Amino acid sequence: MATLWGGRFEGSRAELFRAINDSLPFDVELLEQDVRGSIAWANALARAEVISSTERDTLVNGLKEVLDEGTRDRSAVVASGEEDIHSWVEAKLTSKVGEAGKKLHTGRSRNDQVATDLRLWVRDAIAARVDELVSAQRSILDVAEREVSSPFPAYTHLQRAQPVTFGHWCMAHVEALTRDAQRFLDAAERANECPLGSAALAGTAYPIDRDALAKDLGFARPTANSLDAVSDRDFVVDALSAAALCAVHLSRLAEDLIIYTSAEFGYVGLSDAVTSGSSLMPQKKNPDALELLRGKCGRIVGAHTAMLTTLKGLPLAYNKDLQEDKEPLFDAMLHLSICLRLVPEIFKGLQLRRERAAAASIAGYANATELADHLVRQGMPFRDAHHVVGRLVRLAIDDGVELQGLSLEQLRSVAPSIDERVYEALTVEAALARRDVLGGASPRRVREAIENAKSRLSTHERRS
Ligand code: ARG
Repeated sequence: MATLWGGRFEGSRAELFRAINDSLPFDVELLEQDVRGSIAWANALARAEVISSTERDTLVNGLKEVLDEGTRDRSAVVASGEEDIHSWVEAKLTSKVGEAGKKLHTGRSRNDQVATDLRLWVRDAIAARVDELVSAQRSILDVAEREVSSPFPAYTHLQRAQPVTFGHWCMAHVEALTRDAQRFLDAAERANECPLGSAALAGTAYPIDRDALAKDLGFARPTANSLDAVSDRDFVVDALSAAALCAVHLSRLAEDLIIYTSAEFGYVGLSDAVTSGSSLMPQKKNPDALELLRGKCGRIVGAHTAMLTTLKGLPLAYNKDLQEDKEPLFDAMLHLSICLRLVPEIFKGLQLRRERAAAASIAGYANATELADHLVRQGMPFRDAHHVVGRLVRLAIDDGVELQGLSLEQLRSVAPSIDERVYEALTVEAALARRDVLGGASPRRVREAIENAKSRLSTHERRS
């Protein structure tokens, strides 16, 4: 196999060197971006009068054919044995159009080429992830709307704390996913510069209009320094960082649901579409989809760590280490995509066991704070009320009842100011209605949060 750089070599490459060096098996993923970049480069060369407009047309038409052929049969591309996707495109182009094909690489290096391809890829991948995030959020919002006033126990330290609504729980996760979309969009903004024209490291020697070239490829602007442009992979780190945190959020969402679907909690049921059985225990229904949402986080966070580690200590400018940027990026983005697309499948079939969740939401003295607040409303300082309710909780524990199971007499034995209105204050409905602060768990506020999220999402949908 002829290489792009064979002139000064006499010996052939060791098999094992080829195995570690050749990137075609994975950078075939950049086929479309490589052709897009090459078409823009051919146009830029013609604009600079380095090639004629006839040559440009030949190159552009040839490149389109190359893309068609490669897209039709990717495995044939890989089987070609070329070193990387750039070599494959150029070799294929030259075999199709002859002499003109050999002019395409004038003033360009694979260093600025690959940096450009990868930025194009990252931009596309981010746009797709953001769309998936929007669909995931919409599916959670549907459940939030349905369960906007369904009581649900909330936890700190995984100990029952206070009642909220299931809608409020849903919206907590929607908030996290909203930040993920914002982080992805920030990352896309920084990736939005065009390295092409930086050549190997010093800038191309031809009078290329880099502004026009950047614009041609839909970039906001050209990169500012040729040494940096060919060695910068911050945009990969940014994208993987957004992906890693998003995966962490999905993992936490999954963990919540894994807990809630266990028989011990039993608040939530999953559909058959996202669960599997056991080969041994006939009764089992396992939350595999959720466990994989949780589990995929490891490899995605790993990809982020791998990229940072690859970059650490690299001297300027391009080094072959940078070829290690692709596999973690492609893998992480693929698996994050699968995870994000799984979220609607999970929420579509998610059933809240309303009675069980409502009962749990108030059980185990989760309304103790309500009682303290009741006393505060009667004029008792909160610290005293906290102490008094603590004693009442003890009394109730000794009696084996909930707070609302204590008689008025018992309640008054510790807090004489209490009257029968206390029982109303101890209901879950009263507890929820009182959480009527911005961001709070009252159904009214949750409804408001849902409306805000919906308008955020439709703003995004209108823009894209
Ligand atoms: N396959 C290489 C990569 O992914 C392309 C750039 C090669 N550049 C070079 N100077 N050998 O990084």
